[in-house]
Amino acid sequence: MQQGAKYSQQVAFDEYGQPFIILREQDKQGRLKGKEAHKANILAARSVAKILRTSLGPRGMDKILVGPDGQPTVTNDGATILQKMNVTHEIGKLLVELSKSQDDEIGDGTTGVVVMAGALLEEAEKLLDKGIHPIRISQGFEDACEVAVKHLEAIADRVPWTEEKLDALYETASTTLGSKVISRFQKQMSKIAVDAVLAVADLKRKDVNFELIKMEGKVGGRLEDTMLVRGVVLDKEMSHSQMDKEIKDAKIAILTCPFEPPKPKNKHKLDITTAEAYRELYAREQKYFKDMVQMCKDSGATLVLCQWGFDDEANHLLLQNKLPAVRWVGGVEIELIAIATGARIVPRFEELESKKLGSAGLVREVSFGTTNDKMVVIEGCAHSKAVTVLIRGGNQMMIDEAERSLHDAMCVTRNLIKDNRIVYGGGAAEVACALKVADFADSVSGVEQYAVRSFADALEQIPIALAENSGLPPIESLAEVRRKQIDQKSNTIGVDCKQKGTNDMKKQKVFETLIGKQQQLLLATQLVRMILKIDDVIQPQDKF
Ligand SMILES: Nc1ncnc2c1ncn2[C@@H]1O[C@H](COP(=O)(O)OP(=O)(O)OP(=O)(O)O)[C@@H](O)[C@H]1O
Ligand SMILES: [Mg+2]
Repeated sequence: MQQGAKYSQQVAFDEYGQPFIILREQDKQGRLKGKEAHKANILAARSVAKILRTSLGPRGMDKILVGPDGQPTVTNDGATILQKMNVTHEIGKLLVELSKSQDDEIGDGTTGVVVMAGALLEEAEKLLDKGIHPIRISQGFEDACEVAVKHLEAIADRVPWTEEKLDALYETASTTLGSKVISRFQKQMSKIAVDAVLAVADLKRKDVNFELIKMEGKVGGRLEDTMLVRGVVLDKEMSHSQMDKEIKDAKIAILTCPFEPPKPKNKHKLDITTAEAYRELYAREQKYFKDMVQMCKDSGATLVLCQWGFDDEANHLLLQNKLPAVRWVGGVEIELIAIATGARIVPRFEELESKKLGSAGLVREVSFGTTNDKMVVIEGCAHSKAVTVLIRGGNQMMIDEAERSLHDAMCVTRNLIKDNRIVYGGGAAEVACALKVADFADSVSGVEQYAVRSFADALEQIPIALAENSGLPPIESLAEVRRKQIDQKSNTIGVDCKQKGTNDMKKQKVFETLIGKQQQLLLATQLVRMILKIDDVIQPQDKF
């Protein structure tokens, strides 16, 4: 706060009433003006964008980022890379925000949007060198962006899908996952992502509540063991290994009281002087346990979830009475299960009654891997559509990345539910737009024409980056795609990153959502225009 005051600026007026700015302690401040400011800003933004460029596409590289606590993160997700990079430069931060807004709105395309912004800035720099005013460049970019966004709509295809025929959803989710480390199990993972979204989606309102999809990671096992559970997963096991492992049409009692005889709260002393007294005490304790188990049984419960532990005696009695139970269930889970199954949380045994029980179609204990990790899965909950994606993997880093990738795929599926239009990936949409924008440039008079043409060039940077990252000759690949698009009057030709032998992205089934692609262009252009409008950078030189 003090720092701000120290370097604050003040507006004053000279004798003719003209305003001017007084910068206090100017010698202690760095200041960049005009073209210099533009250049410096563009340079900063481009260097951030350059880092992401190699991550784009199905053959894009991953990054490893080590946090302040020494914890490494391995990821391919643009937004995550930028967020974890801890960018301190003010313009660099704008790019972090750019990627984040794409992530918030769309979920996928967070790398592409930054690469596009970087390409636009590179073009802007060339135009500035030619002596074109930043405002004219900015105008040209805006006009070109409008044309491109409209053209995307024109070339978009509708993918009609129904609940019986979900291929289009699977394939689009699969394209999103193609650039991630879990792409080895692309098919299985995209099915999990789509099924999870559909399970909770409200198709009439075209709305998806992501809060109902819980991602649970558990280290161990293999990535392909990842599964979708239509219900709640509890990282606990049955309190006794011989209890039933599968309960159909379960009636669940949720207890927040322990299976123990009540203990007096203050200090107490008990003198047992005769064997008779001891036997009586023992019988009394036994009765407590028996009553508790009986009360559970009487309520009709077939499964007991308890927030606290049980005495061994209680555990034994529960087993004898064929009443499976889970102990030490966390508070958060208790609430979640209560909501999902429609159960009431019961704080005293006396309050147990049948209408307070929750119901679930199937509760089972499943074990994984060689370590025999166990989990309790509650499926077919009566009151909620909640699903859990149980992610398995060799280490936490892998699980985290799988979670981020699945999230991307789920976002894409949600977007398709909202709007079922797609464009073709692999740079096909970008090249089609570039051709259209280049055409449009010829009809623009004034210096904006240069900016419009540059926008087309910037669009072509996406297929170039895709080809580069796949080890293909970039310029030749782009030239081939362009020629084929023009010759065949097609807008589905893109870069064959995976060397499948065809350029046709429709055949390769590389789909991207229309709204995602449009948003990329709009956000990138908006940001570049913002950077171009800055012509003065004032900051304290000795940064703290
Ligand atoms: N099989 C494929 N062949 C060619 N291009 C592909 C293929 N799969 C994906 N692409 C292209 O790769 C790009 C997406 O790459 P990537 O997923 O790495 O970045 P992003 O979606 O922009 O960002 P992020 O996924 O990190 O949020 C898109 O341009 C898409 O068209
Ligand atoms: Mg992606």
